[in-house]
Amino acid sequence: MVIFGGTGDLAMRKLLPALFRRFADGQIPAASRIIGVAREEQSLDDYRERVARALGDAVAGDGELAGRIPDFLRLLDYRPLDATRDAGWNDFAELMHVQGSERIRVFYLSTSPRIFVDLCQRLRQYGLNDASARVVIEKPIGHDLESACAINDAVGAVFEEQQIFRIDHYLGKETVQNLLALRFANALFEPLWNAAHIDHVQITVAETVGVEQRAGYYDHAGALRDMVQNHLLQLLCMVAMEPPSSLDSDAVRDEKLKVLHALQPINDDNAERLTVRGQYRAGAANGGAAPGYLEDLGQNSSDTETFVALKAEVGNWRWAGVPFYLRTGKRLPARVSEIVVNFRAIPYSIFAEGSGTPTPNKLVLRLQPDEGVKLWLMAKYPGPGGLRLTCVPLDMSFADAFGVAQPDAYERLLLDVVRGNLTLFMRRDEVEAAWRWIDPILAAWASSGETPRGYTAGTWGPSASVALIERDGRTWHDDDS
Ligand code: BG6
Repeated sequence: MVIFGGTGDLAMRKLLPALFRRFADGQIPAASRIIGVAREEQSLDDYRERVARALGDAVAGDGELAGRIPDFLRLLDYRPLDATRDAGWNDFAELMHVQGSERIRVFYLSTSPRIFVDLCQRLRQYGLNDASARVVIEKPIGHDLESACAINDAVGAVFEEQQIFRIDHYLGKETVQNLLALRFANALFEPLWNAAHIDHVQITVAETVGVEQRAGYYDHAGALRDMVQNHLLQLLCMVAMEPPSSLDSDAVRDEKLKVLHALQPINDDNAERLTVRGQYRAGAANGGAAPGYLEDLGQNSSDTETFVALKAEVGNWRWAGVPFYLRTGKRLPARVSEIVVNFRAIPYSIFAEGSGTPTPNKLVLRLQPDEGVKLWLMAKYPGPGGLRLTCVPLDMSFADAFGVAQPDAYERLLLDVVRGNLTLFMRRDEVEAAWRWIDPILAAWASSGETPRGYTAGTWGPSASVALIERDGRTWHDDDS
């Protein structure tokens, strides 16, 4: 496995710790090689030391696991390479050929997308794109439809589609995979999984962090491109897709693609009614004072949104009239990602007025933190004092139910690349269909001449987000309510 961008933040915080955990679990043979590649000159010892520090941080508190770090470091190699210069590429190619072409080779492009094209061309030039090769690309895959197509064309000129693994790490999260198990391994839900029984769906991905060290990238992206185009739409697809005929990668991706195609357009005509953009102002976060976005950015002005709420609709028989409310933002009060499926109200109540009003059932799939599933049901409050209805959850925390730690999304996804399993990766047409839906929203915002609404850091976004859902007589799910 070759990690281009091998000294970068993603490699150090996510990729190498994920590989290390899989190694410690015995899933990566000792004969494997992990080769970090970056532009800077440094010795292998220095690189290993850096990685050792990163792994030490990642497994802090687990002495037994930390004891395995030296074994893992023996798998590591380092090569200084620049995609735009010839120097070093011959040696690198030789190293890869010495390793034997019958071996699976994974090229992980954990770099700026600006050099995806150069890197792929180099790999071809040195004969490294044969059938044993796989390439992994990280978002952002483009800035809009046109640039996404350009990246897909360039990567596709070097690798076959089945060699290209477009990562959306949300698909590797345990709860998202569990959504497949929940929907398709239980007879209970599927008959109810449609407009006749579901009132609406909410998908929230809330973060407490601000833009941190990534202001440069983020200010050119914004929450719609950074989160909605990929993670939130992928979650929506997993909820809304028809049952695929198998877990075969194309069977699943064909169904997701149909959902993306069925999304009703949001454009100049309706964007004002169906979307809300926000940008955080100074406020509070994580128990202390937090600066506003412009201060984080170090600029006087920016029209970039750090919060989006929108109402999407899937135009097909299953979902006609069922809104999917999506919201995501930085500097919100809690780090919470969840999908909330709200069922319809019962048709008629047999209970006396004083018993309390039956609340519609809700199925809450919690992606993070505390991964699990909660099914909110009506029950009788215990006691002889008359029949009082109350809403209580059937609460399954995966950690409690299985007694094992939840692996990081990258652990599953990296091994899937090695196994050649594309089911949890995005196909070219999915990425492009998502952009085809997102572009008109961006265009509508640009032509509206309006700027994002301010919200205080540590709150749930602009009040217009509350109004967006309350106009329809609904409210955002709050687990404490
Ligand atoms: C990334 C975004 O894809 O996902 C980040 O670029 C965001 O802005 C991150 O913070 C959230 O991922 P997670 O797994 O921490 O919810």
